[in-house]
Amino acid sequence: MRRWSSPLVILSVLSLAAMSTQGAEYQPKLPLGLQQQAAYIPDDNPLTPEKIALGKQFFWDKRWSFSGSVACVSCHPPDHGWSDPQQFSTHANGKPTLRHSPTIVNRLFSDRQLWTGLRASLEEQAVKDSNRTDEKIVERFGAIPAYQEQFRKVFGRDLEPDGVAKAISAYVRTILSGNAPYDRFVAGDKSALSPAAQRGFALFGGKARCVRCHTGFNFADEGYHNIGVGMNKENPDLGRYTVTKNDADKGAFKTPTLRDVAQRGPYMHDGGEKTLEGVVAFYNRGGIKNPWLSAEIRPLSLTPSDQADLVAFLRALSGEIDPKVSSPPQLP
Ligand code: HEC
Ligand code: HEC
Repeated sequence: MRRWSSPLVILSVLSLAAMSTQGAEYQPKLPLGLQQQAAYIPDDNPLTPEKIALGKQFFWDKRWSFSGSVACVSCHPPDHGWSDPQQFSTHANGKPTLRHSPTIVNRLFSDRQLWTGLRASLEEQAVKDSNRTDEKIVERFGAIPAYQEQFRKVFGRDLEPDGVAKAISAYVRTILSGNAPYDRFVAGDKSALSPAAQRGFALFGGKARCVRCHTGFNFADEGYHNIGVGMNKENPDLGRYTVTKNDADKGAFKTPTLRDVAQRGPYMHDGGEKTLEGVVAFYNRGGIKNPWLSAEIRPLSLTPSDQADLVAFLRALSGEIDPKVSSPPQLP
């Protein structure tokens, strides 16, 4: 993994067309509030403008799935915070997904992927997604001359599944959310947050204890916790335990980023909470009791106006969507 310490060449994602050197490695320009040194980029998959552009096309192209019925964008639409408005998404085989489709903003700052952390990287996630097969990807995308030509330029070989996953991952790393009212407030613009959101900010780090897990500039500790979601069901989803088989991980799920959270209900791994008000009320009750409940989750005694203030703060974490990243590409 590479972590950038000092920005050597910063070329804006917005100026891809202006790049003159073919295949030159570059860093996306991060919006206000995001930290360059926290970025994860595998050494064998450097970002280049051409690779990102190709990955963006694959992300939108339904010929990617074995049934030709879904693409990444089907379950991660940009106009809904890159998350599915439905509680569960529809797989390429027509069946509902096991879990709610999460946002994919700011994946640049994580190695492990999925609610359970099952996948070690974006590349592994993209190559092992169950909606696709190697055969169909080579058969469909490989038959499209424009894709072959772009792929050879980027990877120096004929189109194959690993490169497709690498290109998609490179594009996903440019899906960023920052420069929210919260960031402008922290940077010194005291008018960026309403008085209610400012009170919510204080509660977030204080009485409401949210910051214990939703920590740092991305509001995520990259850890797994049992907050009780779904634990009152007959056969609860055991989450992280299904990966580690450690008893302590039963019912634990990955802490999601809270950036753009107002854009993307329903919430939680089971999409069971429809609104932010509902989420805050859930925490205020102390989650759902079960033998593995995190010690950090307990009744909070927040008043109704505290709860409204906390929601106002969560709404102030919405950044701007970069239209160059989120607009549909032309497909060959
Ligand atoms: C049929 C719907 C569907 C399609 C198609 C789909 N996803 Fe997902 N995606 C999901 C669901 C559901 C999850 C959560 C699964 C889990 O955690 O068990 C998920 C999780 C993810 C995550 C993990 C996010 C995190 O915070 O850990 C990433 C990244 C991701 N998808 C990217 C992609 C990419 C890239 C594609 C295309 C190559 C894609 N997805 C295609 C439904 C879909
Ligand atoms: C013990 C760690 C922990 C604490 C404390 C915590 N969270 Fe969470 N949060 C999580 C985890 C883990 C999830 C995902 C749980 C799941 O889906 O089962 C989550 C999910 C969420 C979601 C849903 C996001 C989405 O994209 O679906 C929101 C919103 C949220 N938390 C806000 C808060 C607020 C507000 C507080 C303070 C009142 C808080 N959290 C306190 C760990 C925590």
